[in-house]
Amino acid sequence: MLTGLKEILAPTLNKKYAIPAFNVYNMETVMGIVQAAQELRSPIIMQSYSRLFASEAAFYLAPSVLAAAHAASVPICFHLDHGAGEKEVVRGLRWGCSGIMYDCSTLPLNENIASTKRIVQICAEAGVNVEGELGHIGSAADDLNQDYTDVAEAERFVAETGIVSLAVQVGTAHGHYKKTPKVNVERIGEISAKVPVPLVLHGGSGIPEEQIVDAIAAGIRKVNFGTDVCYSFLDKVFETPRSIVPIDVFMRDAIQAVKEFALQKIRLLGSEGKA
Ligand code: G3H
Ligand code: ZN
Repeated sequence: MLTGLKEILAPTLNKKYAIPAFNVYNMETVMGIVQAAQELRSPIIMQSYSRLFASEAAFYLAPSVLAAAHAASVPICFHLDHGAGEKEVVRGLRWGCSGIMYDCSTLPLNENIASTKRIVQICAEAGVNVEGELGHIGSAADDLNQDYTDVAEAERFVAETGIVSLAVQVGTAHGHYKKTPKVNVERIGEISAKVPVPLVLHGGSGIPEEQIVDAIAAGIRKVNFGTDVCYSFLDKVFETPRSIVPIDVFMRDAIQAVKEFALQKIRLLGSEGKA
C-alpha cells in the first residue's frame, strides 16, 4: 500500500530497526525490490534522485513505482530523493510521491531553514511530508567530510522547518568509498537524544555492516542505498549472455540480483516482518 513518509517511519520510533530506502531507476529495479519486500514482509521506501524528476525519466518511472505500491500488501513510500529545487518538488507531488526530500544543505543554516520550511509548506498543501538535510552529505569521490551535523543546529532546524525526518552528516558519503568510512555513532546518539524525528543515514553503499547495525542502535531509522542497487543490477546485466534477445527474458537474472540485494539489506536493517 502506498504510504506516506511520516507514516512509514512512525512505527520505528522507540524501536531498534530502520526502514530501507532503495534508489530505483527503472521498472526492473522496482520489480526486484518489491519482490523482496513482499517476501520478507518489510515496509520499504523506493526513491529516485532529483535528476530523474528534472528530466522525463521519473514521469515514466513513477507509474511503475505507484503500481507496485498500490498492489503490494506491505507499506511502500515513493520518495523524491535530494530534491534540488521547486520544479522537482512540484513534479514529485504531481507524479505521486508520498514523501519528498529537499536538500539545500550547502546553504548557510538560516537559508537552509527558510528554504526547507517553504518546501514543507508547499508539500503540506498536498498532504506530503518532507525530509531535510543538515550537514552536507557529499560525494565519496571527495575526501570524507568530517564537518558533522551539529546537535543544537539540528534541534533548531527540525523545530523551525517542520520536517518529519532528518538526514545527518555523520561520516558517510554518496558513491563508492575510496577508503572504509567511519560512521560517527556517538554523534548519531547525541542528535537522536535531542531531535524528535527519525534520523536518516545516506550513502549506505559500502558502509560495513557492523557500522550500520551500530548506527541503528544509536538512532538511525532510515538507511539509503543507491550505488549498490546499481551494481547489483549492472553486474548481472554485464554477465548475461548477449544471445538472449527478448529484453524481458534478458532482465530476469538482473531483477533477481536486485531482489537478493534488497533481501540482504532488509534483514540487516531489521525491518523483516515489520509490515
Ligand atoms: O540518497 C541516496 C543515498 O544516500 C545513496 O547513497 O549511493 O552511496 O548508497 P549510495
Ligand atoms: Zn543521499
